[in-house]
Amino acid sequence: MKFFVDTADIDDIKEMAATGLLDGVTTNPSLIAKSGRDFMEVTKEICGLTDGPVSAEVVALDHETMMKEAEVLRKIADNVCIKVPLTIDGLKTCKALTNDGTMVNVTLCFSANQALLAAKAGATFVSPFVGRHDDNGFDGMELIEDIRLIYDNYDFETEILVASIRHATHVLQSAKIGADVATMPPAVIKALFKHVLTDKGIEGFMADWAKTGQTILR
Ligand code: G3P
Repeated sequence: MKFFVDTADIDDIKEMAATGLLDGVTTNPSLIAKSGRDFMEVTKEICGLTDGPVSAEVVALDHETMMKEAEVLRKIADNVCIKVPLTIDGLKTCKALTNDGTMVNVTLCFSANQALLAAKAGATFVSPFVGRHDDNGFDGMELIEDIRLIYDNYDFETEILVASIRHATHVLQSAKIGADVATMPPAVIKALFKHVLTDKGIEGFMADWAKTGQTILR
């Protein structure tokens, strides 16, 4: 499973990239607003921090303007992936862009039928929002299971990019289901490394090593 970081914060992205485990970045208008940076400038900087796809979202709601915005966005860097909403205009835009070889991430997916439409529109990625689904009384992970089943039934190549991840269990479940990508806030990626027994084990080994009075680097 690929790991994307869901943020427009440059320091966080640098920190994640330094682990060697980062496969891409997703942003959205809310994350750009949170960064307080100029959209074009920050997106270009992010594209330079990873070789993987960097999702940059259109903000128009009609197909024609979405195409114009996509034209501007894809000139930022070769690894820009155009993010469009799961609407009729968004999927028209998706079809036109992917026919042309541009990567597209179809976002704000909340049903398996919507995911089926995104795949038929040739999406590179579909982004089902599991956390927001859970928040509204649905089962986000059940949605991922349904999409996996449908995509496998028809050999769709669209990658399932699990978004709106809130905790490490979402990541574990995504991996068990066989989702292709998980985009996570930096705090969730950091949480994946943690285990109380790892910390306790290190503590014990360090205490015993100190008793030997030895060093590895001499
Ligand atoms: O990038 C989209 C998605 O991950 C948003 O997550 O936490 O705002 O529901 P959240």
